[in-house]
Amino acid sequence: MSVYIVGAVVPLVLTLLAQSSKKMKKRGVPVDVGGEPGYAIRNSQFTSPVETAWEGISTLAELFEQACKQHRDKYLLGTRKLISRDVETSGDGRSFEKLHLGEYEWLTYGKAFEVVCSFASGLAELGHKKEERVAIFADTREEWFIALQGCFRRNVTVVTIYASLGEEALCHSLIETEVTTVICGNKELKKLVDISGQLDTVKRVICMDDDIPSNTLPLVRSGIWTVTSFADVERLGRGNPIDADLPHSSDVAVIMYTSGSTGLPKGVMMTHHNVLATVSAVMTIVPDLGSKDIYLAYLPLAHILELAAENIVVAVGGVIGYGSPLTLTDTGSKIKKGTKGDATVLRPTIMTAVPAILDRVRDGVRKKVDAKRGLAKRLFDLAYARRLSAINGSWFGAWGLEKLLWDFLVFRNVQAVLGGRIRFLLSGGAPLSADTQRFINICLGAPIGQGYGLTETCAGATFSEVDDTSVGRVGSPLPCSFVKLIDWPEGGYRTSDSPMPRGEIVIGGPNVTPGYFKNEEKTKEVYKVDERGMRWFYTGDIGMFHSDGCLEIIDRKKDIVKLQHGEYISLGKVEVALIVSPYVDNIMLHVDPFHSFSVALVVACQPAVEEWASKQGISFTDFADLCQKTETLAEVHASLVQAAKKARLEKFEIPAKIKLLSTPWTPESGLVTASLKIKREAIRKAFSDDLTKLYA
Ligand SMILES: *[C@@H]1O[C@H](CO)[C@@H](O)[C@H](O)[C@H]1NC(C)=O
Ligand SMILES: *[C@@H]1O[C@H](CO)[C@@H](O)[C@H](O)[C@H]1NC(C)=O
Repeated sequence: MSVYIVGAVVPLVLTLLAQSSKKMKKRGVPVDVGGEPGYAIRNSQFTSPVETAWEGISTLAELFEQACKQHRDKYLLGTRKLISRDVETSGDGRSFEKLHLGEYEWLTYGKAFEVVCSFASGLAELGHKKEERVAIFADTREEWFIALQGCFRRNVTVVTIYASLGEEALCHSLIETEVTTVICGNKELKKLVDISGQLDTVKRVICMDDDIPSNTLPLVRSGIWTVTSFADVERLGRGNPIDADLPHSSDVAVIMYTSGSTGLPKGVMMTHHNVLATVSAVMTIVPDLGSKDIYLAYLPLAHILELAAENIVVAVGGVIGYGSPLTLTDTGSKIKKGTKGDATVLRPTIMTAVPAILDRVRDGVRKKVDAKRGLAKRLFDLAYARRLSAINGSWFGAWGLEKLLWDFLVFRNVQAVLGGRIRFLLSGGAPLSADTQRFINICLGAPIGQGYGLTETCAGATFSEVDDTSVGRVGSPLPCSFVKLIDWPEGGYRTSDSPMPRGEIVIGGPNVTPGYFKNEEKTKEVYKVDERGMRWFYTGDIGMFHSDGCLEIIDRKKDIVKLQHGEYISLGKVEVALIVSPYVDNIMLHVDPFHSFSVALVVACQPAVEEWASKQGISFTDFADLCQKTETLAEVHASLVQAAKKARLEKFEIPAKIKLLSTPWTPESGLVTASLKIKREAIRKAFSDDLTKLYA
């Protein structure tokens, strides 16, 4: 009898314990810090910000050298062999490049170190002085990482430029930093030639591809540039080795130019100390990270998220296989039919992703499942529902026998798309929707660590822990950062708000960068040093701290505007509430401070609007015509009002008038960013006439 009671009580107690520990787990705790008054939180396991995880290591150059010595004969960098490059022509006459890629070819840690040293020597032999800056302007690839480490060994600061950056921004960043050597691929080299007339300081180009484009010839002949292949630089260095000239931890490692939503890009200076702090902190967050891990690298290395991630993998002795967004999976648009994508060949254990890519994975899987009929679809739906309630409940439920069963029966095929071995995904760059987070969690059977940080803080600020199954939050402070909220009374956010403190997010710690290159004014505006010497960065983002010390991003300061009568409207908050309407594909709220109401540009969701019209028996010539009709406008506006009421918006927050647009906003049109965030300035410019009419 008593055995039975124990048998019943033990699981009960365990469940209760598990639940209470889940509810009570403090991931971040309040801390008393200096500087501006506010509500500050630190990571619950580290009392002071972590600067380096390795004794005696204070730069990325030292970290790389140490890893190469420790793991000499292990594989480090791999690139797929190119078997053939074909051009296919589609029905409408457009042509597409299709690649047939083979197995990975590997460089060991030992060999990679030799190549890096040779590259560093070769750079000096070419005549590049170490106080001059190098720019790397290329897609992510093996040579990118080698060039970066080669520059570090000679204390040469590297300027990084998004490969997709426009001509004006490219010129601006190369001129501002007085770069003398540009390292690029042949695709980027063609772009560079077009603007060569404006680049007075550039003397040398190192081309990562062997086939150097012919349009460089005039520049080479007239002695304006020397153009050398990457392989030749390495050869040159091997024949003329010179000693390393290692940097100090406070030296600037990278000046990173990223595309902003307005104006010319700003160059963020990052010291070795800064990047090392982020690398050290993130390393402690990824569970069991080690030399068995295989990382698929395909995001832009010109983004700090990827740059930090690759340095972390090296630091722990892992393997990096390179790929690209268009060759990632077997169905990738550049993959030749019948051949394999990067993920299926490499079978990575760890990947980083941005929300836009995860959204695409989710939509792809959904489409496939919806196309199935009968049992297969019902089984998927059942499995999904079961897993969802398990993850939503106690953490024990999330990893039981049942998970193994569903993974085997249903999700195995989805997991195979990324090689079938993913055990951790790292998402950053923009907030991930709760829906996608859950979907990927369940279908891939792996946790997603969501991070929040900015280029100015070296990507570091907060990171969600692996056992945190909540959605919509970005986790607790990284071990390298303090995260503080300060009052923003004009916006109506205060740290005394209940039930949770709210305010502008301010980040302090060794990962906070020295500021913008040659832009002291802007630097002074958003960076401050407190009386204890801690550097703080003012993000302009509005956050809220949950009771367990996790941060939720709720708004952006820039997106809050004032109406004529003094009421504040948070554009982002209202847009999020209104986009719920089935008729809305995208929306931008607009406020003219000289009026007492707001207006909105609404991109109509074609299927939903057309379905409504056909039900109503409304005839129209084309979709653009339908979007102009008074009845359509009235119907969409009514649905916006309904969505606003549901979200408890104030009356003045609801747009009084709308303009319905029939063409979607895409990154190609320049109206949304690559991660699909709306670019307010660009949209306002493009539709300025419509906006004026709405206020007329
Ligand atoms: C690294 O280079 C910078 C800029 O040229 C220089 O100020 C610094 O002193 C150098 N560091 C070392 C350790 O030589
Ligand atoms: C998940 O849990 C939350 C709160 O415990 C609840 O509000 C929500 O409805 C649950 N969702 C599902 C799909 O079970």
